Amino acid sequence: MKTVLTKSPQRAAKFILSDEVVAFPTETVYGLGANVFSHEAIEKIFRAKNRPADNPLIAHISSLSEIELLASRITSAAEKLIDAFFPGPLTIVLPKQTGVPDIATASLSTIGVRMPLHSTANLFLKACGVPLVAPSANLSGKPSPTTWQAVREDMDGAISCILKGDQTEVGLESTVVDCTSDEPVLLRAGAITLEQLREIVLQTRLRTAADENLTVRSPGLKYRHYSPKAKVILVGQSKEAVASTGSAYIGLDAPAEIESWQQVLVCRSVRDYAHSLFQFFRQCDAMDVQVIYCQRVVETGLGMALMDRIRRAAHS
Ligand code: TXA
Ligand code: MG
Repeated sequence: MKTVLTKSPQRAAKFILSDEVVAFPTETVYGLGANVFSHEAIEKIFRAKNRPADNPLIAHISSLSEIELLASRITSAAEKLIDAFFPGPLTIVLPKQTGVPDIATASLSTIGVRMPLHSTANLFLKACGVPLVAPSANLSGKPSPTTWQAVREDMDGAISCILKGDQTEVGLESTVVDCTSDEPVLLRAGAITLEQLREIVLQTRLRTAADENLTVRSPGLKYRHYSPKAKVILVGQSKEAVASTGSAYIGLDAPAEIESWQQVLVCRSVRDYAHSLFQFFRQCDAMDVQVIYCQRVVETGLGMALMDRIRRAAHS
């Protein structure tokens, strides 16, 4: 299959309307979109990504009125979080509307809904005229793509079209919150922080071991994620990292012996670190780096999501 590259949301939307798959930019990472009501198109997403069929997809909307096509009930907690954070990097899990095909949500009775804060994504969704399910546009197991070139690396020949945009701003996937009850549960940390969620709904809590249906609530969490080919090692201070050809370093503090590393990225802030992490992983893979040292950050605010992704990369 030839993969068309375009900057035109209208041209890209035509592929969606003929049940094809299109990659598109959002503020978090690039997504792989298909019509939420097309079983046939959604099957193509799972095939292109080589994604396990029991991992549900997030539905993307461009206007709040579309929520009722997807969710059968909007809880009061959800209403508050939607008011505060839509559009933005937040996914809200709600009871699913019967019209949504089972393949979209891996047969769960719930559905994740998100409204991107990104002008190209918004124009594209509007041109499609239907909500789109969209997982991150990487091959299953690889780091999520934050540039259209990274999408092409994984998806060239496997999907019909890539809608080109800039490098994504946030660089990590959206925050996912289960809002099916009055006590929202944070399933995946992201750019909307736990502190921000609690400011709006105080009862918002982390998952605990006592959540017996843990993996049912976010099946995706059990899979390998975000991992480069290189081995990832966490370090507290930059001096614990060992420079060599074949090793790379990313963190907030500069490491010693800058000239002895194969690749080094010193980030200005946690925000900048999150923005750059996945792209850095991909660059290191392209350069055949063997070991990537990642400096730890304090786990508050965005630091919680960043450490979550680094840890998953280190443990896989
Ligand atoms: O930022 C993002 O969320 C990006 C962009 C493209 O919007 N999308 C994304 O999708 O990261 P994906 O498929 O790579 O990750 C979706 C996560 C998975 O961990 C999945 O298990 C969880 O959300 N999820 C989706 N629907 C769910 C549901 N109904 N209940 C619980 N978890 C759900
Ligand atoms: Mg993903």
